[in-house]
Amino acid sequence: MSQVLIQTHGLSKVYDRGSEQIVAVDKVDFELRAGDFVSFVGPSGSGKTTLLHLLGCLDTPSSGDLNVAGTPIFQNGKSLSERQLTGIRRDLFGYVFQKFYLIPTLTVKENILLPFAFHKRAENALDVLELAQRLGLSHRLTHLPKELSGGEMQRVAIARAMINQPKIILADEPTGNLDSKRSTEIADILADLNKSAGLTIILVTHNPQLAAKAGRIIELRDGRIV
Ligand SMILES: Nc1ncnc2c1ncn2[C@@H]1O[C@H](COP(=O)(O)OP(=O)(O)OP(=O)(O)O)[C@@H](O)[C@H]1O
Ligand SMILES: [Mg+2]
Repeated sequence: MSQVLIQTHGLSKVYDRGSEQIVAVDKVDFELRAGDFVSFVGPSGSGKTTLLHLLGCLDTPSSGDLNVAGTPIFQNGKSLSERQLTGIRRDLFGYVFQKFYLIPTLTVKENILLPFAFHKRAENALDVLELAQRLGLSHRLTHLPKELSGGEMQRVAIARAMINQPKIILADEPTGNLDSKRSTEIADILADLNKSAGLTIILVTHNPQLAAKAGRIIELRDGRIV
């Protein structure tokens, strides 16, 4: 069996809004293994983004346990320090969002290499030219984001998420800003990276066609796995 990368027990997130308590994620038990490609689906407000942020150590749960690659991130109400969390985010995760968040004044190549602007861990770096080729961006490396199509922008964001060889790619509605042809293209790229490069992926999407590319589809409703 492959390595367990993420394990949760009773993971919950409750938002307190004065008189009202919103249970965004409700006692989720989940396991992710190396090489998995999982998609979370469910209606708007079902807790997909909140859960993804918890799993990616971007947000703090209200209760429950989270273990990532053998490290207890949250356990018995205790959390790693902010400094340790930063290291986990940097070394284990690559994040892809609906709004690509490219830096407009940097070229494609510079955007892909951006993670290294913040820390010097170049020993894990993939070859940027090889990565660009794999994502069909070789001819765009010196371009600025504004000169790209939406699909190309998202491919740059995926390359940036991958450059440091994270263990897990988290993608929240990565095709939300793309037309159906570009969406299919991104979905195919993710599926191929999972199959050929063994990349572990968690995908959040409304799009059933995109979700269907995953090996496992998990439906959320009212913060619960159904
Ligand atoms: N910062 C917040 N404060 C209060 N409530 C929040 C906050 N963030 C999310 N929520 C609530 O938590 C629930 C889950 O939200 P979440 O964004 O995780 O849903 P989602 O499944 O990603 O929805 P969508 O498909 O629209 O992106 C919703 O009821 C939402 O209103
Ligand atoms: Mg969402």
